Amino acid sequence: MSEIYYPHKELFENPAFKNMCEYEDLVKEFEKDYEGTWAKLANEKISWFAPFKKVLDESNAPFYKWFTEGKLNVAYQCIDRHLKDKKNKAAIIWEGDNGEKRIITYLELHREVNRFANLLKSLGVKKGDRVVIYMPMIPEAAFAMLACARIGAIHSVVFGGFSAEALKDRILDAEAKIVITADGAFRKGKPYMLKPVVDKALEGVDCVEKVVVVERNNEEIEWVEGRDVSYNDLIVNQDNECPFEIMDSEDPLFLLYTSGSTGKPKGVEHHQAGYILWAQLTMEWVFDIKNNDTFWCTADIGWITGHTYIVYGPLAAGATTLMFEGVLTYPDAGRAWKMIEEYKVNQFYTAPTAIRLLHKIGADEPKKYDLTSLRILGTVGEPIDPAAWKWYYDVVGNGRCSIVDTWWQTETGGHMISPLPAATPIKPGSATFPLPGIFAEIIDENGNKMPPNEKGLLCITKPWPSMIRTIWGDPERFVSSYFGTAKKDGKPVYFSGDGAIYDEDGYIWITGRVDDVINVSGHRLGTAEIEAAIQKHPHVAEVAVVGKPDEITGESIFAYIVLKSNENLGEDVELMKEINEIIAKEIGNIAKVKDFAFVPGLPKTRSGKIMRRILRAIAKGEEIKQDTSTLEDPSVVEKIIEIVKSCQI
Ligand code: WTA
Repeated sequence: MSEIYYPHKELFENPAFKNMCEYEDLVKEFEKDYEGTWAKLANEKISWFAPFKKVLDESNAPFYKWFTEGKLNVAYQCIDRHLKDKKNKAAIIWEGDNGEKRIITYLELHREVNRFANLLKSLGVKKGDRVVIYMPMIPEAAFAMLACARIGAIHSVVFGGFSAEALKDRILDAEAKIVITADGAFRKGKPYMLKPVVDKALEGVDCVEKVVVVERNNEEIEWVEGRDVSYNDLIVNQDNECPFEIMDSEDPLFLLYTSGSTGKPKGVEHHQAGYILWAQLTMEWVFDIKNNDTFWCTADIGWITGHTYIVYGPLAAGATTLMFEGVLTYPDAGRAWKMIEEYKVNQFYTAPTAIRLLHKIGADEPKKYDLTSLRILGTVGEPIDPAAWKWYYDVVGNGRCSIVDTWWQTETGGHMISPLPAATPIKPGSATFPLPGIFAEIIDENGNKMPPNEKGLLCITKPWPSMIRTIWGDPERFVSSYFGTAKKDGKPVYFSGDGAIYDEDGYIWITGRVDDVINVSGHRLGTAEIEAAIQKHPHVAEVAVVGKPDEITGESIFAYIVLKSNENLGEDVELMKEINEIIAKEIGNIAKVKDFAFVPGLPKTRSGKIMRRILRAIAKGEEIKQDTSTLEDPSVVEKIIEIVKSCQI
């Protein structure tokens, strides 16, 4: 039986949900009148230029449409409409790696975004064009996203840690016309470079016409004549006003590539109205955002968390968002706490992997700072273990803050399952209950609700406004990836790829991916992509990678490699280094293999399917309970176990 923590109600003045009765009331309202309740919220929260005609169009399911024929502009929603009473309020507070500071008010943000939008227009960018943003964590990255939104271009932010190959794949898949990047930025006191990665990525690429370079670290870079332009040079000549494009609710807003269990990354497509509505609402519901708050999400804008909770959500809510270029542990383990003290941060949102690391390297650090401004501590990306949760609660939150363990995905656009900070009694490690309007259920493949303590599929059984609309350029994959696993009442429903359990009180406990996706430090990595990279090494015949539990990163990557010649069984550090270099080149450092074993073969069924479950168990050092007699060659399991054991000595 897990301990229950009740909210400290005195921290919350007029929260969206004061207690569980209010939560249940809204849940019931959605059950009674699903579309009517969404319509009410959409009308209340969005500044429409023309009203929508239909709340939910299910005629082409699962390609659902929301708020059809409504007209709006997301940049207007995030900026212009706040100018009336917030023009001098800080929209973005930015701190550089070296402690440098910038404060950008809503009026300044308006100007910067308009100028950037004009700059893009001057380069020929039009509504519907794709713009790839490969940027460090500097305000210009947010300006670039909002500038695209203003003129109706579709942005696709690629995480700055991805390699040239990975960037190239995404540029080609999106058929981007423009790439926005920076020369580089600073990390841990030193400059690092991005522009050379873009140069490499663009070798042999025809679709990109211009590369806009923000000069941030002023290191020497190469300029490609006719293709590369300096943001710093061009921006000064731009007009402060740029008319916003009137967008339809269902025009695409952005693509964000994420890993799936098979094949190449998927360009998850989000559209305008539904996405921004939910980004804004969850800021109010889950983060209890108030006018005077300073909100800090430590994600990178290259991930969905950065999109929704650094840029779109906080700004749509008219809040102040703190953006940080650096690393939470640099120059020391107190950096995060020092920033919270300095900016009087009210909501702090980070990943369990960061919490575990900060705990490990500075368990008592938070006590040295005044963290009393904090009301809400958030986590996202992976299940949080009780030890990390307890430390976050007791030491960072000093036993007063509500912890919101938010479960969601790139595909969901915003939070799906989360405590409400002033209402929900919390059990550490549980994301608790679905948010109102979200029909998240743990079911079997036929839609039967799982009884307590039995693992099932975490599905969303009704469409919701901020859901993925399709996979860019591959609608069939969209249908098969998300709507091919489970049905309810005979109708395909969205399957998240995660397993979960209800406890006897109906709390939801996420158990992690049930597909072949590995979650390293909250980063989603597909086994297929990593395996494809490893296969590129000339000595590799076959490979299977699995996730292995890791104290800090949640999971780490374990590779079982079959070499073309069977010598060298066991450990070969040099070869592994070479293989990791290939991974860094093909994907990026985040996908590097931590543990590996060179094995004589892989456990396969007679039909040739690799039994990853067995490999996962071996990586964990668990006993193999499964019947191995159905394998093509059962003896291979014993051999692998022997090799893994000898590697660990
Ligand atoms: C995992 C990140 C447990 C989950 C927003 C999901 C979580 C994947 C949680 C999505 C949580 C996210 N508890 N697991 N609170 N939040 N996950 O697309 O496996 O990068 O499917 O989106 O992260 O990762 P993504």
